[in-house]
Amino acid sequence: PPSIDELQAQLKSLNVTDPLPVFPGSNPTSNPVDVFRCYIAEELAKISGVDIELVYPALEWTQSMDKGDLILAVPRLRIKGKKPDELAQEWADKWPENDFIEKPQVHKAFLSFFFKGSMVAPLVLNDILKRKENYGPVNTGKGKRIIVEFSSPNIAKPFHAGHLRSTIIGGFLSNVHEACGWDVIRMNYLGDWGKQFGILGVGFKRFGSEQKLIDDPIHHLYEIYVQINKVITEEAEIEKAKAEAEGKKFDKYNKQTYKGPTDDEARAFFKKMEDGDQEALGLWKRFRDLSIDKYKTTYARLNIFYDVYSGESQVSTESLNKAAQMMKDKGISQEDEGAVIIDFAKLGAKKLGKAVLQKKDGTSLYLTRDIGAAMERYEKYKFDKMIYVVASQQDLHLNQLFKILELLGLDWYKKCQHINFGMVQGMSTRKGTVVFLDDILAGARDSMHEIMKKNADKYGQVEDPDFVADTVGRTGVMIQDMAGKRINNYVFSWDRMLSFEGDTGPYLQYAHARLSSIGRKVREAYPEGLDVTKADLTLLKEPHAVNLIRCLAQYPDVLQNTLKTLEPTTVVTYLFKMTHLLSSSYDVLRVLGENKELMLARLALYAAAKQVLGNGMKVLGLVPVERM
Ligand code: ARG
Repeated sequence: PPSIDELQAQLKSLNVTDPLPVFPGSNPTSNPVDVFRCYIAEELAKISGVDIELVYPALEWTQSMDKGDLILAVPRLRIKGKKPDELAQEWADKWPENDFIEKPQVHKAFLSFFFKGSMVAPLVLNDILKRKENYGPVNTGKGKRIIVEFSSPNIAKPFHAGHLRSTIIGGFLSNVHEACGWDVIRMNYLGDWGKQFGILGVGFKRFGSEQKLIDDPIHHLYEIYVQINKVITEEAEIEKAKAEAEGKKFDKYNKQTYKGPTDDEARAFFKKMEDGDQEALGLWKRFRDLSIDKYKTTYARLNIFYDVYSGESQVSTESLNKAAQMMKDKGISQEDEGAVIIDFAKLGAKKLGKAVLQKKDGTSLYLTRDIGAAMERYEKYKFDKMIYVVASQQDLHLNQLFKILELLGLDWYKKCQHINFGMVQGMSTRKGTVVFLDDILAGARDSMHEIMKKNADKYGQVEDPDFVADTVGRTGVMIQDMAGKRINNYVFSWDRMLSFEGDTGPYLQYAHARLSSIGRKVREAYPEGLDVTKADLTLLKEPHAVNLIRCLAQYPDVLQNTLKTLEPTTVVTYLFKMTHLLSSSYDVLRVLGENKELMLARLALYAAAKQVLGNGMKVLGLVPVERM
């Protein structure tokens, strides 16, 4: 970004004679909205007599452009004695004519502020065209470290919709933080430990194939897992029948009460793993390594690269013991029928129920391992924040975890946050039922390819149709996931997500490709080249142009707001707002056929729009296409 002096000089050249009142915590050099915030806050403080410290944070961004660029809810200032509606009117009347803000509009107790086009156009467009991919992020995370734990599938079980959502949302949250200066550690906490690996070990010996394991470990391990579980269930049925005949009792902390010989074998196998048996561990490690390799390629298709592949298996016995000891010493845990449990009701957190910390046979559980894992992570990374991107089905689990950390007196529990999300309904491949991520991405690619082929003219011009189909298909999957609020469930729909109509991934890609084509056509018409940085931006006077510029000005603020909402929809909604403005502008703001000056100004506008749209798409984890 420019220095504050450079910004002051630029403002001066735009006739703003008063120096910019830089409010502490504002970032006017990288966030144009903050320039206006500073001016408005100062002016309002003068007019109203309210302290600027109160006015500044009360200037909020708006839901839609017709409500202004910033809005003030007068009641937020808590002024006694006068009605907010009257105050709003009074302040608007007193507002002085100036070069950067229109006279505020009054709607009941609200004051709407609109940036002047003559001010925002040069300020923002020049900035975008100069800073290019650096326009947007404000370096507010400098010196801070965040762990984003996301995706975290279970080896040998399907990568289900919950993992897909976690992957998409977590990838996005990592990108936003990284862009805004945070030191981001992307962590995948694999479900790679537990009795299911005993089951898998036994299953592999019975049904496994070396070749298949190497070719396609994820599918093959799942196949084995299903097969061997069938055997276990059948044997359990037999045991059940036997036990019922004998009138045997249940064991309250063990879910699977009836066990046949294969189950015993699996338990023994897992016991061997826990005891460090080299052969058992060797096989397990191969399952893990091969699965990770495979996952890595799939994640790469989504532009996701992890810093750490951790997992339940990586939590050391030492930290597990340490955690257990601490819980015992603090009187948090108790023994019950040979198991160690925690009864939250006794600890003032009734709604968290009870949880098992250690089974009768001494083995640890999912929750216990999470306690150890969190402690290890804090030791190692001393994070300023850690987020767990996990489905809302695990709300209870994570609340229990955070509560335990709190009860243990680990003050950093406050830095941990569960980023939850709703379910995806009806996610299946076009044929089968169980879904693997790869199948979803391949399905999206193939369908998109079919759609593209229908327009033979355009299809012929696309250089690498495979790549474009893959990219646009993937965009469809991801936008469908990120369009709504995280917590909402959504219905997985192939038709809708691949449609070009409505707020879909292909629509967004199309908007980007269209902006590219404007630049391309102008370059064809003017092979000698045109320099958009020389454009006379004062020519951009039409309401369509001004609205579009106002919208581009908001992008850095949108990213800052995203750091608060931690919602992909904050960015997605913004990008659709922008693309809608674009769609309605093309007929009004034509480029070719206008006089050269006007053409250059509009070209600058579209180039800036393309830049911001592309920047936003990249933060979402998408690859914007130039042609489709
Ligand atoms: N592997 C788990 C599952 O698939 C998700 C892990 C979530 N992260 C955590 N730290 N518990 O359900």
